[in-house]
Amino acid sequence: MSRIYFDNAATTALDPEVLEAMMPYLTEKFGNPSAIHSYGRETKMAIENARKTVARILNANPGEIFFTSGGTESTNTAITAAIRDLGCTHIITSPIEHHATLHTTESYAQKGLATLDHVRLTDKGHIDLNHLEELLAANKGRTLVTFMHANNEVGNLMDIKAVGEICHNFDAIFHSDTVQTVGHYPFDLKNTYVHFINGAGHKFHGPKGVGMLYVNESISIKPYIHGGSQERNMRAGTENLYGIVGFAKALELATARYEQDSKHIDGLKHYMAEQLQAKIPQVNFNGDTNGRSLYTVLNASFPKTEKSDMMLFNLDMAGICVSGGSACTSGANATSHVISAICNGTSDSIVPIRFSFSRHNTKEEVDIVVEKLQELL
Ligand SMILES: Cc1ncc(COP(=O)(O)O)c(C=O)c1O
Repeated sequence: MSRIYFDNAATTALDPEVLEAMMPYLTEKFGNPSAIHSYGRETKMAIENARKTVARILNANPGEIFFTSGGTESTNTAITAAIRDLGCTHIITSPIEHHATLHTTESYAQKGLATLDHVRLTDKGHIDLNHLEELLAANKGRTLVTFMHANNEVGNLMDIKAVGEICHNFDAIFHSDTVQTVGHYPFDLKNTYVHFINGAGHKFHGPKGVGMLYVNESISIKPYIHGGSQERNMRAGTENLYGIVGFAKALELATARYEQDSKHIDGLKHYMAEQLQAKIPQVNFNGDTNGRSLYTVLNASFPKTEKSDMMLFNLDMAGICVSGGSACTSGANATSHVISAICNGTSDSIVPIRFSFSRHNTKEEVDIVVEKLQELL
């Protein structure tokens, strides 16, 4: 059975060109980058070239880019550094962040190391900028503001420049979880007020288990993982050499293909929304679908019935891979914190489904999925 993969916000397929770039570092170029001999020098050079590529694409300095194991580690590093090294005693975040942010900020609040505020959301699920200003003006000590650039479940896209300006006015430290946007949107970090952003290679056709953390040069932080002197003493442990090479290659390819891919994927998203509305009138969309929203994500909700409750399972049986707006805990479906936060108490009566696209998807696949949904409902 041929399968349809509409779960690209969870992870994407590795690009064969990326694999090709990685292969030498999985085979003959295996030297430890910390070694001083030629094997080490060639792999060290590969890492530094990858760093330069990433920095150039994001308009940052190579010294501001650190390679990590992924989005989660980068977020943990940034939040920890803000509290431990930069004097932040107050955190402002939002109720719809990824758990990497929510659980990390909660753990610092529980330990009594920071006070924690959650910003209000607008009707469409965006950060309420007036409330952010009010929270900052309350002046509860140096503040870390941490908001995701794009929401992985509903796709809402934050205005990173506008939030950065507000943070600047209050001298706050600003971290943005950009895991869903690095490799999908252009960045201009030299002209954006932000101290930390992160990225994960597997979200843009790169390898899993490798990510990056951008640390603005105006701040100085200590490592999160202690040990060796890798990553200029910032992240100990022998580098994920082939992962780093793959991360940079994937970012390079994504950047070169940005215009054509974003247009194609955006077309699929809106085509699917139209088709769903035409064929399944009970459908609703979660988030700011036609406004500030990722072109890769469409989150639809269906009225909760016995049939719709089984929809994810039945789609999977039909070879259609999508994601529910729910986190699976010990086999029981718990409503997603994102859907609960933006649906104002109606989340128990809907079944949310996230469709997320890549350049590999086609209109024909959308037609098949919509038809299957019609049949299942
Ligand atoms: C918005 C967001 N932040 C963080 C992460 C975590 O990234 P990783 O799985 O690379 O640690 C993800 C991936 O699921 C994500 O979508």
